[in-house]
Amino acid sequence: MAGRSRTIILALTAIVLLVVAGGLYAWSPEKPPAVLAGAVTIGGPFKLTTQDGKPLSDADLKGKPFAVFFGFTHCPEVCPTTLWEMTEALKTLGPDADRLKVLFISVDPTRDTPEFLARYLQSFDKRIVGLTGTEAEIDAVGKSYRAYWEKIPLDGGDYTMNHTASIFLMDAKGQFAGTISYGEAMDMRLGKLRKLIAGGAVS
Ligand code: NI
Repeated sequence: MAGRSRTIILALTAIVLLVVAGGLYAWSPEKPPAVLAGAVTIGGPFKLTTQDGKPLSDADLKGKPFAVFFGFTHCPEVCPTTLWEMTEALKTLGPDADRLKVLFISVDPTRDTPEFLARYLQSFDKRIVGLTGTEAEIDAVGKSYRAYWEKIPLDGGDYTMNHTASIFLMDAKGQFAGTISYGEAMDMRLGKLRKLIAGGAVS
């Protein structure tokens, strides 16, 4: 009797631990869920609007590797840091950087109009393309990249956002090639970007 109860308790504990661990993993901004599931694809077709008000789709990127990052212009730290580090990386890569596209997709399209994105991105490398769209367009592209974000209400009716902090690296065929984590050392970033540009595997 006692032995059976203990088995049941152990089984229940194992289930709870699995659920908790699964939840933590799924919500960790450093580890996009798709990295652990080889069968899951990352990326896909999209159609968005650049900071110049022009349409840009995945088809326009065919033949060129790209790095894509989800964020928002009101972000206090992660986005400006990432954009600044990408600006530094592009400068260091020199002419090779022209063989790469860098995309910054807003997860806050209500506030991030093309005009607002254009003004914000003036502080960073001019080759970084800001993208926004309707809420449905942003939801669709976010889902295809397995990116997450959520609105966090602030006092006074304002809000901020939590969001995936990794940069997704996509090869010239538009296939997922790896990620750069938030806070990753610059030499690691440069190594991954150089491999991506050269067309090799990034890891
Ligand atoms: Ni951010």
